[in-house]
Amino acid sequence: MTILNKLFTPAASINTFSPQAIANQDKMPSGDRYDWKILIVDDVPVNVKVVKAYLANAGYSNFVTETEAANVASLLGKESPDLMLLDIMMPEFSGLDILREVRASERFGHMPVLILTSTESSEIKREALELGATDFLAKPVDPDELILRVRNTLKLREYQNNLERKVRERTAELEHSRIDIIECLAKAAEYRDNETGRHVIRVSKYVAVIADELGFDEETVFQLEQAAKLHDIGKIAIPDSILQKADLLTADEYHIMQTHCSAGKKIFESVSHEDRRHFNKHTSAGAALIMNSGSPLLEMASTIALTHHERWDGSGYPIGLSGEDIPIEGRITAVADVYDALSSKRVYKPAFPREKCFSIMEQSRGSHFDPAILDAFFRRRKDIIDIQIHYADIDLT
Ligand SMILES: [Fe+2]
Ligand SMILES: [Fe+2]
Repeated sequence: MTILNKLFTPAASINTFSPQAIANQDKMPSGDRYDWKILIVDDVPVNVKVVKAYLANAGYSNFVTETEAANVASLLGKESPDLMLLDIMMPEFSGLDILREVRASERFGHMPVLILTSTESSEIKREALELGATDFLAKPVDPDELILRVRNTLKLREYQNNLERKVRERTAELEHSRIDIIECLAKAAEYRDNETGRHVIRVSKYVAVIADELGFDEETVFQLEQAAKLHDIGKIAIPDSILQKADLLTADEYHIMQTHCSAGKKIFESVSHEDRRHFNKHTSAGAALIMNSGSPLLEMASTIALTHHERWDGSGYPIGLSGEDIPIEGRITAVADVYDALSSKRVYKPAFPREKCFSIMEQSRGSHFDPAILDAFFRRRKDIIDIQIHYADIDLT
Protein backbone atom coordinates (compact mmCIF):
# COMPACT_ATOMS: atom_id res chain seq x y z
CA MET A 1 0.00 0.00 0.00
CA THR A 2 1.51 3.35 -0.97
CA ILE A 3 1.50 6.47 1.11
CA LEU A 4 -0.94 8.04 -1.30
CA ASN A 5 -3.61 5.42 -0.93
CA LYS A 6 -3.05 4.32 2.64
CA LEU A 7 -5.57 6.74 4.08
CA PHE A 8 -8.58 7.02 1.88
CA THR A 9 -10.20 4.91 -0.74
CA PRO A 10 -10.08 6.46 -4.23
CA ALA A 11 -13.75 7.20 -3.93
CA ALA A 12 -13.18 9.47 -0.96
CA SER A 13 -13.38 13.11 -1.92
CA ILE A 14 -13.82 16.41 -0.15
CA ASN A 15 -17.30 16.68 -1.55
CA THR A 16 -18.62 13.31 -0.48
CA PHE A 17 -20.22 13.93 2.89
CA SER A 18 -22.62 11.41 4.21
CA PRO A 19 -26.12 12.67 4.90
CA GLN A 20 -25.71 11.33 8.41
CA ALA A 21 -22.66 13.52 9.07
CA ILE A 22 -24.53 16.59 7.92
CA ALA A 23 -27.55 15.61 10.01
CA ASN A 24 -25.28 15.27 13.06
CA GLN A 25 -24.50 18.96 12.85
CA ASP A 26 -28.08 19.72 13.74
CA LYS A 27 -27.97 17.30 16.66
CA MET A 28 -25.00 19.04 18.26
CA PRO A 29 -25.97 20.94 21.38
CA SER A 30 -25.99 24.65 20.69
CA GLY A 31 -23.47 25.14 23.52
CA ASP A 32 -20.76 23.29 21.58
CA ARG A 33 -17.75 25.36 20.69
CA TYR A 34 -16.50 25.31 17.12
CA ASP A 35 -13.53 27.63 17.47
CA TRP A 36 -11.18 25.02 18.94
CA LYS A 37 -7.88 25.06 17.12
CA ILE A 38 -7.45 21.69 15.40
CA LEU A 39 -4.08 20.62 14.03
CA ILE A 40 -4.18 18.02 11.24
CA VAL A 41 -0.90 16.27 10.49
CA ASP A 42 -0.69 13.94 7.50
CA ASP A 43 1.97 13.64 4.83
CA VAL A 44 -0.68 13.29 2.12
CA PRO A 45 -2.16 16.71 1.28
CA VAL A 46 -5.44 15.33 -0.03
CA ASN A 47 -6.01 13.46 3.23
CA VAL A 48 -5.51 16.66 5.19
CA LYS A 49 -7.92 18.41 2.89
CA VAL A 50 -10.60 15.76 3.29
CA VAL A 51 -10.44 15.61 7.09
CA LYS A 52 -10.48 19.39 7.27
CA ALA A 53 -13.47 19.55 4.93
CA TYR A 54 -15.44 16.98 6.96
CA LEU A 55 -14.82 18.95 10.14
CA ALA A 56 -15.51 22.30 8.49
CA ASN A 57 -18.79 20.92 7.30
CA ALA A 58 -19.63 20.04 10.89
CA GLY A 59 -19.02 23.64 11.89
CA TYR A 60 -15.39 23.67 13.02
CA SER A 61 -13.51 26.65 11.68
CA ASN A 62 -10.07 26.93 13.21
CA PHE A 63 -7.52 24.68 11.52
CA VAL A 64 -3.78 24.38 11.27
CA THR A 65 -2.50 21.76 8.84
CA GLU A 66 0.92 20.23 8.25
CA THR A 67 2.22 17.64 5.81
CA GLU A 68 5.87 17.71 6.96
CA ALA A 69 6.35 15.75 10.17
CA ALA A 70 9.61 17.60 10.83
CA ASN A 71 7.71 20.90 11.15
CA VAL A 72 5.26 19.72 13.79
CA ALA A 73 7.34 20.62 16.86
CA SER A 74 7.80 24.28 15.88
CA LEU A 75 4.20 24.49 14.68
CA LEU A 76 2.94 23.30 18.06
CA GLY A 77 4.90 25.99 19.87
CA LYS A 78 3.63 28.68 17.51
CA GLU A 79 -0.02 27.66 17.27
CA SER A 80 -0.87 25.95 20.59
CA PRO A 81 -3.63 23.76 19.15
CA ASP A 82 -6.39 22.29 21.31
CA LEU A 83 -6.45 18.96 19.50
CA MET A 84 -4.15 17.13 17.09
CA LEU A 85 -5.24 14.62 14.47
CA LEU A 86 -2.11 12.65 13.72
CA ASP A 87 -1.25 10.26 10.94
CA ILE A 88 0.95 7.35 12.01
CA MET A 89 2.70 6.32 8.84
CA MET A 90 4.77 9.17 7.47
CA PRO A 91 8.24 9.34 5.93
CA GLU A 92 11.10 10.67 8.12
CA PHE A 93 9.21 10.65 11.42
CA SER A 94 6.33 8.41 12.30
CA GLY A 95 3.29 9.68 14.15
CA LEU A 96 4.51 7.63 17.10
CA ASP A 97 7.73 9.66 17.22
CA ILE A 98 5.71 12.86 17.27
CA LEU A 99 3.32 11.51 19.90
CA ARG A 100 6.26 10.52 22.10
CA GLU A 101 7.68 14.06 21.93
CA VAL A 102 4.32 15.66 22.54
CA ARG A 103 3.66 13.58 25.64
CA ALA A 104 7.14 14.33 26.98
CA SER A 105 6.62 18.07 26.68
CA GLU A 106 5.34 19.97 29.68
CA ARG A 107 3.23 22.31 27.60
CA PHE A 108 1.49 19.76 25.37
CA GLY A 109 1.66 16.67 27.53
CA HIS A 110 -2.13 16.79 28.08
CA MET A 111 -3.20 17.84 24.58
CA PRO A 112 -5.63 15.31 23.12
CA VAL A 113 -4.20 13.43 20.14
CA LEU A 114 -6.44 11.39 17.84
CA ILE A 115 -4.49 8.88 15.80
CA LEU A 116 -5.49 8.37 12.17
CA THR A 117 -4.42 4.93 11.13
CA SER A 118 -5.11 2.40 8.44
CA THR A 119 -2.83 -0.09 10.06
CA GLU A 120 -4.34 -3.20 11.49
CA SER A 121 -1.18 -3.82 13.48
CA SER A 122 -2.22 -4.31 17.09
CA GLU A 123 1.43 -3.80 18.01
CA ILE A 124 1.42 -0.22 16.68
CA LYS A 125 -1.96 0.49 18.26
CA ARG A 126 -0.75 -0.76 21.61
CA GLU A 127 2.38 1.37 21.35
CA ALA A 128 0.27 4.42 20.48
CA LEU A 129 -1.94 3.78 23.49
CA GLU A 130 1.08 3.30 25.72
CA LEU A 131 2.43 6.63 24.49
CA GLY A 132 -0.81 8.31 25.48
CA ALA A 133 -2.91 8.42 22.30
CA THR A 134 -6.35 9.74 23.19
CA ASP A 135 -8.26 7.72 20.61
CA PHE A 136 -8.03 6.10 17.16
CA LEU A 137 -9.75 6.79 13.90
CA ALA A 138 -9.60 4.07 11.29
CA LYS A 139 -8.81 4.96 7.71
CA PRO A 140 -10.54 5.46 5.45
CA VAL A 141 -12.08 7.97 7.78
CA ASP A 142 -15.79 7.73 8.29
CA PRO A 143 -17.06 11.33 8.54
CA ASP A 144 -19.72 10.52 11.16
CA GLU A 145 -17.19 8.80 13.37
CA LEU A 146 -14.61 11.55 12.82
CA ILE A 147 -17.00 14.29 13.88
CA LEU A 148 -18.30 12.38 16.89
CA ARG A 149 -14.85 11.46 18.14
CA VAL A 150 -13.56 15.00 17.65
CA ARG A 151 -16.62 16.42 19.38
CA ASN A 152 -16.36 14.04 22.34
CA THR A 153 -12.65 14.64 22.71
CA LEU A 154 -13.12 18.39 22.68
CA LYS A 155 -15.96 18.15 25.20
CA LEU A 156 -13.60 16.29 27.50
CA ARG A 157 -10.96 18.92 26.81
CA GLU A 158 -13.40 21.67 27.76
CA TYR A 159 -14.32 19.85 30.95
CA GLN A 160 -10.61 19.50 31.81
CA ASN A 161 -9.99 23.17 31.01
CA ASN A 162 -12.85 24.20 33.30
CA LEU A 163 -11.58 21.92 36.02
CA GLU A 164 -8.04 23.30 35.69
CA ARG A 165 -9.39 26.86 35.77
CA LYS A 166 -11.39 26.11 38.92
CA VAL A 167 -8.35 24.51 40.57
CA ARG A 168 -6.26 27.55 39.66
CA GLU A 169 -8.91 29.92 41.03
CA ARG A 170 -9.26 27.89 44.21
CA THR A 171 -5.49 27.72 44.65
CA ALA A 172 -5.27 31.51 44.21
CA GLU A 173 -8.04 31.97 46.78
CA LEU A 174 -6.26 29.71 49.24
CA GLU A 175 -3.01 31.54 48.60
CA HIS A 176 -4.71 34.86 49.30
CA SER A 177 -6.33 33.62 52.49
CA ARG A 178 -3.03 32.15 53.63
CA ILE A 179 -1.31 35.49 53.05
CA ASP A 180 -4.16 37.27 54.87
CA ILE A 181 -3.80 34.91 57.83
CA ILE A 182 -0.04 35.46 57.90
CA GLU A 183 -0.55 39.24 57.97
CA CYS A 184 -3.21 39.02 60.67
CA LEU A 185 -1.03 36.84 62.88
CA ALA A 186 2.00 39.04 62.32
CA LYS A 187 0.00 42.12 63.22
CA ALA A 188 -1.52 40.39 66.24
CA ALA A 189 1.97 39.69 67.57
CA GLU A 190 3.16 43.16 66.63
CA TYR A 191 0.29 45.02 68.31
CA ARG A 192 1.42 43.69 71.65
CA ASP A 193 4.86 45.17 71.09
CA ASN A 194 4.38 48.14 68.80
CA GLU A 195 0.98 49.67 68.35
CA THR A 196 1.48 50.77 64.75
CA GLY A 197 1.97 47.21 63.51
CA ARG A 198 4.15 48.49 60.67
CA HIS A 199 7.46 47.04 61.86
CA VAL A 200 6.69 43.64 60.35
CA ILE A 201 5.63 45.20 57.05
CA ARG A 202 8.83 47.24 56.75
CA VAL A 203 11.06 44.34 57.81
CA SER A 204 9.41 42.01 55.30
CA LYS A 205 9.83 44.57 52.52
CA TYR A 206 13.49 45.19 53.42
CA VAL A 207 13.99 41.40 53.36
CA ALA A 208 12.45 41.22 49.88
CA VAL A 209 14.72 43.99 48.56
CA ILE A 210 17.87 42.40 50.01
CA ALA A 211 16.90 38.92 48.75
CA ASP A 212 16.24 40.35 45.30
CA GLU A 213 19.65 42.05 45.34
CA LEU A 214 21.25 38.74 46.35
CA GLY A 215 19.77 37.15 43.22
CA PHE A 216 16.95 34.99 44.63
CA ASP A 217 14.25 34.17 42.10
CA GLU A 218 10.94 36.03 42.19
CA GLU A 219 9.00 33.23 43.89
CA THR A 220 11.59 32.84 46.67
CA VAL A 221 11.70 36.61 47.19
CA PHE A 222 7.91 36.57 47.58
CA GLN A 223 8.03 33.66 50.03
CA LEU A 224 10.78 35.31 52.06
CA GLU A 225 8.73 38.50 52.22
CA GLN A 226 5.71 36.61 53.58
CA ALA A 227 7.76 34.47 55.97
CA ALA A 228 9.63 37.48 57.39
CA LYS A 229 6.32 39.01 58.50
CA LEU A 230 6.21 36.29 61.15
CA HIS A 231 9.77 36.72 62.46
CA ASP A 232 8.54 37.99 65.85
CA ILE A 233 5.44 35.79 66.12
CA GLY A 234 6.98 34.24 69.24
CA LYS A 235 6.44 37.53 71.09
CA ILE A 236 2.91 36.28 71.63
CA ALA A 237 4.48 34.15 74.35
CA ILE A 238 6.21 37.09 76.12
CA PRO A 239 4.41 38.86 79.01
CA ASP A 240 3.28 42.46 78.48
CA SER A 241 5.26 43.54 81.54
CA ILE A 242 8.43 42.74 79.58
CA LEU A 243 7.29 43.69 76.09
CA GLN A 244 5.98 47.09 77.16
CA LYS A 245 8.69 47.91 79.68
CA ALA A 246 10.15 51.36 79.06
CA ASP A 247 13.23 50.81 81.24
CA LEU A 248 16.12 48.54 80.45
CA LEU A 249 15.28 44.88 80.97
CA THR A 250 16.80 43.00 83.88
CA ALA A 251 18.97 39.99 83.03
CA ASP A 252 16.07 37.64 83.80
CA GLU A 253 13.63 39.67 81.74
CA TYR A 254 16.07 39.79 78.83
CA HIS A 255 16.41 36.04 79.04
CA ILE A 256 12.63 35.66 78.83
CA MET A 257 12.54 38.10 75.91
CA GLN A 258 15.08 35.95 74.07
CA THR A 259 12.72 33.00 74.23
CA HIS A 260 10.52 34.63 71.55
CA CYS A 261 12.78 32.95 68.94
CA SER A 262 12.25 29.40 70.11
CA ALA A 263 8.59 30.15 70.90
CA GLY A 264 8.22 31.37 67.30
CA LYS A 265 9.73 28.19 65.93
CA LYS A 266 7.47 26.10 68.14
CA ILE A 267 4.38 27.81 66.78
CA PHE A 268 5.26 26.46 63.32
CA GLU A 269 5.98 22.96 64.46
CA SER A 270 3.57 20.13 64.28
CA VAL A 271 1.63 20.55 67.47
CA SER A 272 1.55 17.39 69.52
CA HIS A 273 -0.77 16.92 72.49
CA GLU A 274 2.25 17.31 74.69
CA ASP A 275 3.22 20.60 73.06
CA ARG A 276 -0.32 21.87 73.20
CA ARG A 277 -0.24 21.69 76.99
CA HIS A 278 2.72 24.09 76.98
CA PHE A 279 0.96 26.70 74.91
CA ASN A 280 -1.67 28.84 76.44
CA LYS A 281 -5.11 28.79 74.90
CA HIS A 282 -4.56 31.68 72.49
CA THR A 283 -1.18 30.54 71.29
CA SER A 284 -2.31 27.04 70.44
CA ALA A 285 -5.23 28.49 68.50
CA GLY A 286 -2.77 30.55 66.46
CA ALA A 287 -0.51 27.56 65.99
CA ALA A 288 -3.38 25.43 64.79
CA LEU A 289 -4.28 28.10 62.28
CA ILE A 290 -0.90 28.25 60.61
CA MET A 291 0.48 24.82 61.38
CA ASN A 292 1.33 23.10 58.12
CA SER A 293 4.50 21.08 58.28
CA GLY A 294 4.46 20.49 54.50
CA SER A 295 4.51 24.18 53.58
CA PRO A 296 7.88 25.55 52.42
CA LEU A 297 6.70 29.03 53.34
CA LEU A 298 5.96 28.07 56.94
CA GLU A 299 9.21 26.14 57.20
CA MET A 300 10.95 29.31 56.04
CA ALA A 301 8.98 31.33 58.60
CA SER A 302 9.96 28.86 61.30
CA THR A 303 13.66 29.19 60.39
CA ILE A 304 13.44 32.98 60.40
CA ALA A 305 11.61 33.04 63.74
CA LEU A 306 14.33 30.90 65.27
CA THR A 307 17.44 32.49 63.76
CA HIS A 308 16.81 36.20 63.21
CA HIS A 309 18.80 37.11 66.36
CA GLU A 310 21.81 34.95 65.56
CA ARG A 311 24.97 36.92 64.79
CA TRP A 312 27.67 36.35 62.18
CA ASP A 313 30.39 36.11 64.87
CA GLY A 314 28.46 33.55 66.94
CA SER A 315 27.47 35.95 69.77
CA GLY A 316 23.74 35.90 69.02
CA TYR A 317 20.87 33.82 70.38
CA PRO A 318 19.12 31.43 70.91
CA ILE A 319 21.60 28.86 69.52
CA GLY A 320 24.81 30.83 69.04
CA LEU A 321 25.28 29.83 65.41
CA SER A 322 27.95 31.65 63.40
CA GLY A 323 28.81 32.47 59.78
CA GLU A 324 27.07 30.46 57.11
CA ASP A 325 25.78 28.00 59.69
CA ILE A 326 23.09 30.62 60.23
CA PRO A 327 20.43 29.98 57.58
CA ILE A 328 20.53 32.75 54.99
CA GLU A 329 16.89 33.69 55.59
CA GLY A 330 17.82 34.39 59.24
CA ARG A 331 20.88 36.41 58.21
CA ILE A 332 18.86 38.55 55.80
CA THR A 333 16.12 39.17 58.36
CA ALA A 334 18.72 40.14 60.97
CA VAL A 335 19.92 43.02 58.77
CA ALA A 336 16.37 44.14 57.99
CA ASP A 337 15.17 43.81 61.61
CA VAL A 338 18.07 45.74 63.15
CA TYR A 339 17.86 48.54 60.59
CA ASP A 340 14.18 48.95 61.39
CA ALA A 341 14.77 48.86 65.14
CA LEU A 342 17.45 51.57 64.81
CA SER A 343 15.40 53.81 62.55
CA SER A 344 12.12 53.52 64.51
CA LYS A 345 10.99 54.91 67.81
CA ARG A 346 10.73 52.27 70.53
CA VAL A 347 9.59 52.51 74.13
CA TYR A 348 13.22 52.41 75.20
CA LYS A 349 14.75 54.68 72.48
CA PRO A 350 14.02 57.44 69.96
CA ALA A 351 14.25 56.87 66.20
CA PHE A 352 17.86 57.47 65.16
CA PRO A 353 18.70 59.66 62.16
CA ARG A 354 19.25 57.66 58.99
CA GLU A 355 23.01 58.27 58.70
CA LYS A 356 23.52 57.21 62.30
CA CYS A 357 21.60 54.00 61.53
CA PHE A 358 23.75 53.30 58.48
CA SER A 359 26.90 53.97 60.44
CA ILE A 360 25.86 51.57 63.25
CA MET A 361 25.00 48.94 60.63
CA GLU A 362 28.45 49.38 59.04
CA GLN A 363 30.18 49.08 62.43
CA SER A 364 28.46 45.71 62.87
CA ARG A 365 29.83 44.30 59.61
CA GLY A 366 31.37 40.91 60.26
CA SER A 367 30.31 40.93 63.93
CA HIS A 368 26.52 41.06 63.83
CA PHE A 369 25.98 40.90 60.07
CA ASP A 370 27.05 38.75 57.15
CA PRO A 371 29.21 41.21 55.12
CA ALA A 372 27.78 40.03 51.77
CA ILE A 373 24.22 40.65 52.96
CA LEU A 374 25.15 44.03 54.40
CA ASP A 375 26.68 44.93 51.02
CA ALA A 376 23.42 43.97 49.30
CA PHE A 377 21.51 46.12 51.83
CA PHE A 378 23.70 49.15 51.11
CA ARG A 379 23.58 48.64 47.34
CA ARG A 380 19.80 48.99 47.59
CA ARG A 381 19.95 51.92 50.00
CA LYS A 382 17.54 53.97 47.88
CA ASP A 383 14.86 51.26 47.90
CA ILE A 384 15.34 50.77 51.64
CA ILE A 385 14.79 54.48 52.26
CA ASP A 386 11.71 54.50 49.99
CA ILE A 387 10.18 51.67 52.04
CA GLN A 388 11.08 53.39 55.30
CA ILE A 389 9.30 56.57 54.17
CA HIS A 390 6.31 54.87 52.56
CA TYR A 391 5.58 52.61 55.54
CA ALA A 392 6.62 55.05 58.27
CA ASP A 393 4.83 54.80 61.62
CA ILE A 394 2.06 57.34 61.89
CA ASP A 395 1.89 58.84 65.35
CA LEU A 396 -1.78 59.57 66.03
CA THR A 397 -1.21 61.01 69.51
FE1 LIG B 1 12.86 39.32 67.26
FE1 LIG C 1 11.46 42.40 64.86
